[in-house]
Amino acid sequence: MVWRDVIAKTGAYLEAKGVDSPVVAAELLAARLLKTGRGMLGNFVGREADERQLEAMRRAMARLTAGEPVQYVLGEWDFRSLTLKCDRRALIPRPETEGLVSRVLAGLKSGDVVIDVGTGTGAIILSLAQESKTPGVFIGSDVSGDALALAKENAARTGLADKVKFLAMDGLDDFDEPQVLDVIVSNPPYVKAAVCDTLDRSVRDFEPRLALDGGPEGLDFYDRYLGDALNLLKPGGRVYFEIGEDQGPAVRKLMEDYGFGQIAIERDYAGHDRYASATLE
Ligand SMILES: C[S@@+](CC[C@H](N)C(=O)[O-])C[C@H]1O[C@@H](n2cnc3c(N)ncnc32)[C@H](O)[C@@H]1O
Repeated sequence: MVWRDVIAKTGAYLEAKGVDSPVVAAELLAARLLKTGRGMLGNFVGREADERQLEAMRRAMARLTAGEPVQYVLGEWDFRSLTLKCDRRALIPRPETEGLVSRVLAGLKSGDVVIDVGTGTGAIILSLAQESKTPGVFIGSDVSGDALALAKENAARTGLADKVKFLAMDGLDDFDEPQVLDVIVSNPPYVKAAVCDTLDRSVRDFEPRLALDGGPEGLDFYDRYLGDALNLLKPGGRVYFEIGEDQGPAVRKLMEDYGFGQIAIERDYAGHDRYASATLE
């Protein structure tokens, strides 16, 4: 069978099984097996698929129809200019989070010590290390050993292992000295605990709960990290958070209560509150 037919049949099958964006999924799977980009598939669709490739498509289809996200089935996903290994050890990096990186980059100064708390795949800190125009110290931390192992694999595959240090740490608990950080960035777990069980099956059953559950109001980690930031940031240091779309007012209030200045709540491309930042004055 030629690839044109493989893709058409796969798309139709996935659609019948209720998989989201079935044609895109079929094309992404085909592109991965053909070691090309989705946009280049036109050059390959007349070729015969061999039995090994067809078997790989069948296995991938079974995973997709069982509800597994396409990113995990593919095993890698793009974030900004990096292609990151992506599997069930960590949250799938989301496009909104790319905007968090832009905001941190805009404020970076030479020599800044930057920590990404809850680094997951390493998406944020690896992008910062790669794209920063100035030298700095880049640290990714996570309480999950699985996530940290994946982040280290991503550092190695993107050639950034020498630029980023990874720490196994619960929150910011292991710093002994005050005023050691210039920037704290985090996309923390921010889903309300009660909502975690009602999330879409592809998230609820496949992504780590540890990456999602932000406590009763989804605000636990902002409260905790802001409290720690008071002690750990140098004067003038900055915090940058990704937030849930309904959390802007509550996160602003937390920042005010802790005495931070220059507080900004900004929107993502969809027009939802998504980014909170503040400065320790
Ligand atoms: C929403 S995910 C974000 C992952 C990644 N930074 C991203 O944006 O794709 C939150 C991350 O926080 C980590 N995490 C959860 N509890 C933590 C804690 N107490 N200390 C440090 N990291 C924690 C999770 O393991 C997960 O990797």
